[in-house]
Amino acid sequence: MSSKKTGSKGANQHKGANQQWGGRFDHGPDEIMERINASIDFDRRLYAQDIGGSLAHAKMLVQQGILSAEDGAEIEHGLNTISREIEAGEFVFDPALEDIHMNIEARLKSLIGDAAGRLHTARSRNDQVATDFRLWVRDANDRIEAGLRDLQAALIAQAERHAGTVMPGFTHLQTAQPVTFGHHMMAYVEMFGRDRGRFADARARANESPLGAAALAGTSFGIDRKMTATALGFDRPMANSMDAVSDRDFALEFLAACTVMALHASRLCEEIVIWCTPGFGFVRLSDAYSTGSSIMPQKRNPDAAELIRGKVGRVAGALNNLILVMKGLPLTYAKDMQEDKEPLFDAADTAELILAALSGMIKDMEAVPTAMAAQAGTGYSTATDLADWLVRALGLAFRDAHHVTGRIVSLAESKGVQLHDLNIADMQTVEARINQDVFDVLSVEASVASRVSEGGTAPENVRQAISLAKKRFGI
Ligand code: ARG
Repeated sequence: MSSKKTGSKGANQHKGANQQWGGRFDHGPDEIMERINASIDFDRRLYAQDIGGSLAHAKMLVQQGILSAEDGAEIEHGLNTISREIEAGEFVFDPALEDIHMNIEARLKSLIGDAAGRLHTARSRNDQVATDFRLWVRDANDRIEAGLRDLQAALIAQAERHAGTVMPGFTHLQTAQPVTFGHHMMAYVEMFGRDRGRFADARARANESPLGAAALAGTSFGIDRKMTATALGFDRPMANSMDAVSDRDFALEFLAACTVMALHASRLCEEIVIWCTPGFGFVRLSDAYSTGSSIMPQKRNPDAAELIRGKVGRVAGALNNLILVMKGLPLTYAKDMQEDKEPLFDAADTAELILAALSGMIKDMEAVPTAMAAQAGTGYSTATDLADWLVRALGLAFRDAHHVTGRIVSLAESKGVQLHDLNIADMQTVEARINQDVFDVLSVEASVASRVSEGGTAPENVRQAISLAKKRFGI
């Protein structure tokens, strides 16, 4: 008999024991025990993986002669019915049955009777949940990888449009040297490319099957773990049964990859927020990704960018959460590990939302080349080009050239003009050998065009980097 919620504390003393493990129990759990113990409200998200795992397990039991073909067929039929019921929203989840595994098993019993009880032969919820969760994380991993690819494609499309669009490059958020907007976009293509690599690495390491480890020690039944591993798309069974049920590295690595990805997204969003301010005006977000103010009619706020910047906290929090859950847990399974799911589900949902919103925003974003060019020429951004010219044309040592350039910059500053506005006589008061050729390097266009070293910002380099990136990242 399954225990039913009565709502009254006293009545709990007389509740029936759990139907799956209640053999040595006279009473059901206290209502509070049920509340702290139940995971069905969140682990119902594992239903498809749980049913998939059970189908593979049942088939293997039949093949190994552990289960009769008739029982196997009934189990398969029952599980498929349950899958349809859940998908149609008709399945009644019962918190008294704790988790997704026992909810499905109880329903299977009501559908097919005794054969349901044979499904759990050579299996425990410990290897079952480890298998389900791995499969779920693997799917999430694949969705996020696809999302990252879309985002890279959106960034590359911007880079193609703006391979030659000059903007100021910053260090310390102070104007440093001119770069191109395309080069800036391609920097993020690299960052999100490394994220894809992290997800791919994590996926490859995680793709081993815990199924058949049973509770922790393996089983006395003649099971075929390779068969279930293959059926579920795993590369191989996990080598050690104790490790199989107690390992959550796959979840930690997934969360670590999500965290680095989210922080990359947050850096890009911080830049977008800055670029959208009137002081910069480098980009304009579409109406679809902006919001207005209820009081200030002129406002156009980059809320999506701010929210993405903020959401990194949730994702990094989930990683910290699971690290602290796992820290100090002795082998093998402990119920603490049930706390692995909520933070991970939330982080995965958040990561997907971040990627979708960021891709949408980047696709629609319009660069404002005039504003970028105007600022690219301020702040003496071509001072390094002047110093390099002094080395190349006059043979000065770079340190001396640096000093001479510093004095010319301070001369321009005292006159309130940019470097290219100084006349040659002014410059010659600092270094007599400077000649007219120097003006060839003082414009921002000349500056970016000269940065042809590997990985540099010259427009021709950027165009080359784009075509290489498309190949490397399959875009
Ligand atoms: N709901 C449990 C979890 O998520 C399933 C495993 C329960 N195993 C056990 N030995 N109580 O971790």
